[in-house]
Amino acid sequence: MTEIPLPSTAFADAWIQVDRTEDPRFFVNLLDATRARLLERAREAPARFFAPLAPRPGLNVLDVGCGTGDFLRLLAPLVDPGKSVGLDLSETMIDEARQRSTAAVSNLMFRVGSVLELPFEAGSFDRVIATQVLLHVPDPWKGLAEMCRVLAPGGMISVAEIDWGTLVVECTNRELSRRFTDLACKELRNGLIVRELPGRLRHLGCERITIMPEVEVAQDIDAFHRWFVEPSLSHFRRIGAFSQAEGDFFLNDLQERARHGQYFSSRTHYSIIGYRPV
Ligand SMILES: C[S@@+](CC[C@H](N)C(=O)[O-])C[C@H]1O[C@@H](n2cnc3c(N)ncnc32)[C@H](O)[C@@H]1O
Repeated sequence: MTEIPLPSTAFADAWIQVDRTEDPRFFVNLLDATRARLLERAREAPARFFAPLAPRPGLNVLDVGCGTGDFLRLLAPLVDPGKSVGLDLSETMIDEARQRSTAAVSNLMFRVGSVLELPFEAGSFDRVIATQVLLHVPDPWKGLAEMCRVLAPGGMISVAEIDWGTLVVECTNRELSRRFTDLACKELRNGLIVRELPGRLRHLGCERITIMPEVEVAQDIDAFHRWFVEPSLSHFRRIGAFSQAEGDFFLNDLQERARHGQYFSSRTHYSIIGYRPV
């Protein structure tokens, strides 16, 4: 049977089958566009940027759902000669990560695999991190348990996600703004996962749980608008949650607000850190 490629904006399902979508490069480009500012911060001062992970030479790090591997490439020198392993379900992502890493340090490697069945021995890593991955995974708690399994005693797990309930895309018609946020929470598979992560980590035996929030605000049309707001709206129209007229009003209103210096969107990222007892 011939597989029908998914449209790139198939929303929740797209991120768990990047290679099967009609245009896998869409996701590479999306990551490049939406991570650019954060990457710039990481490049400017890697030690400060990665300080919450307390990196030091000799630690072994696993980045689950590493995407194009850009963050891990900056972290790897801080743990060298420890190994830095990037794992992702998508071959497109891993190919891209490898291509971008030819000149990188020798302790960096990438492989295809799933967080749901990590191809590593128990206790193999001192740091296990996942950024905006569990949000999409059909069984995130199995994934989290796998991450804890491969964590060494005394090691640190770090899970970073946006709480999509904090999303504000301000529109003059506030009912449409609220609807947009509600739909983002509903249509992203685990849009409110942040609220459960600390408890689940404790349940899995982690201790010293720390929660670090960071609010991101945009005052003008930005990469998030182009790569999330607009594609999401197409999806919401496709499923009939926004009519053609409501969608047109919403997007035109945001453009109009931007022209008058009144654009406002905001969302909160959370990094949740825990330790496996020694
Ligand atoms: C939103 S991207 C985040 C990429 C990267 N962590 C970052 O923040 O730039 C989600 C990534 O998770 C990967 N992914 C989805 N399901 C996965 C799974 N079961 N195991 C490992 N990776 C997965 C996708 O292929 C994609 O690269």
